[in-house]
Amino acid sequence: MTDNQQNDQLGNEDQTLTNRQGHPVTDNQNTRTVGDRGPTVLENYNFLEKITHFDRERIPERVVHARGAGAHGYFEAYGTIGDEPASKYTRAKLFQEKGKITPVFVRFSSVIHGGHSPETLRDPRGFAAKFYTEDGNWDLVGNNLKIFFIRDPIKFPDLVHAFKPDPVTNRQDVNRIFDFISHTPEAMHMITWLFSPWGIPANYRMMEGSGVNTYKMVNSEGVGHLVKYFWVPKQGVKNLTQAEAEEIQAKNFNHATEDLYAAIEQGDYPEWEFCVQIMSDDEHPELNFDPLDPTKIWPPDQFPLLPIGRMVLDKNPTNYFAEVEQAAFGTGVLVDGLDFSDDKLLQGRTFSYSDTQRHRIGTNYLQVPINQPKTRVATNQRDGQMALNVDSVAAGENPHVNYEPSSLGGLKEAPKSGKDHTPYVQGPVTRQKISRTNDYQQAGERYRTFEDWERNDLILNLVTALKKCNQDIQERIVEHFMQCDPEYGKRVREGLGQS
Ligand code: HEM
Repeated sequence: MTDNQQNDQLGNEDQTLTNRQGHPVTDNQNTRTVGDRGPTVLENYNFLEKITHFDRERIPERVVHARGAGAHGYFEAYGTIGDEPASKYTRAKLFQEKGKITPVFVRFSSVIHGGHSPETLRDPRGFAAKFYTEDGNWDLVGNNLKIFFIRDPIKFPDLVHAFKPDPVTNRQDVNRIFDFISHTPEAMHMITWLFSPWGIPANYRMMEGSGVNTYKMVNSEGVGHLVKYFWVPKQGVKNLTQAEAEEIQAKNFNHATEDLYAAIEQGDYPEWEFCVQIMSDDEHPELNFDPLDPTKIWPPDQFPLLPIGRMVLDKNPTNYFAEVEQAAFGTGVLVDGLDFSDDKLLQGRTFSYSDTQRHRIGTNYLQVPINQPKTRVATNQRDGQMALNVDSVAAGENPHVNYEPSSLGGLKEAPKSGKDHTPYVQGPVTRQKISRTNDYQQAGERYRTFEDWERNDLILNLVTALKKCNQDIQERIVEHFMQCDPEYGKRVREGLGQS
């Protein structure tokens, strides 16, 4: 809760400045000193409180996705998934009834650079949504692009290090980026999207969103289906060429935040249709890719996008730090009726998000209002830094019993809402790539599917970047593009002046 909200709740219209102990501040201009020329004295409580709090105003930035903007809104369910009742696939309560409203908070972001970096940079864009459902929170932490660079989470820190500024010069360096990418063939599909105009969305409103990873939906019989999630903007999709982005950046490096904020202030509320692709829960040996591989799309002609609801963003944050900076999204935050698939990247992510948030925000990050569910919370977890409440007491249970099971009262396990989903998994414990890597086919298809202007911009952007790279890196990358599509490789090679 912000200070203003707290004051409103107390019915406090008094404008008197106080310190954090509630003492009225009678002089906010002069520190306490010996005579008018100083030195200052140590018992200067108001000054010490003010300056030491100021010294601690920043929390660590997100290690990735530091630059972002957020908004509140609502999700409205259609009650169906395509032509079927939603209950056929999932028992998640938020999807069951047509017209059912669930409040949401969404944070959009860019990935690589810091909290005030330009919003025109070539970078994936984050699209993270928190649904405050009656069964607790559901986070869908997605990106604008439908795929990712890698499929194994052990590579994530290396990927990010290669894209972040050089540890010596503190500058992003395409030679480092393409060095890593040239050893990462599974990234070709993502690189093809990223260096096209799709790597610079015009703003956050005219941008798609995708969960990227494969999840599951589970119905009341415990039957699971593989599922991918998508946000389709009602505003349409708009991307920028490198030249257009540079023109905007010369005048404004906050254009996407500005655009979202202004649209909502003017009542021009952005809206997205929420869609899913669905597959039966098995390995699908008939496909030339693995349905759990996040470097692949599921071709929409075989797996159509089925509408499931819509989302409208209709309220700007009133306090950027409290609502946007402290927002904590994670792929582990699912509700009953939604589940994980065996996708390795998804499992790596699921560990990473809440781990980083305990470091970035603190042990009790879930007591920060933006992260709190809008439903009852009653756990036996307690204390830790900045504990605002003990949940079981807040929930009105026997305060002596902070453990379970117990016959003295206290919290009890919830009844099950349906049959358990019990997938059967068997195999040797190993370190191995998936067998159906097929790293180049979809990259080549994407190259051929782009419109001419998109393909031309892709080649121009790649050639401009690769010209700054060492020759062996250029050669390895061109070889990868050749395998995606011979024309793709040839155009990049010619652009680099190689025969
Ligand atoms: C193994 C792979 C990945 C790991 C380990 C990882 C880890 C992280 C971490 C540590 C953060 C910072 C979170 C915070 O400080 O609150 C983050 C943010 C984020 N990641 Fe990932 N990530 C991975 C892949 C992905 C993928 C595939 C996507 C897209 C589907 C994605 C989307 C996001 C978004 C949107 C945010 C920002 C959330 C926000 O707005 O607060 N990440 N990621």
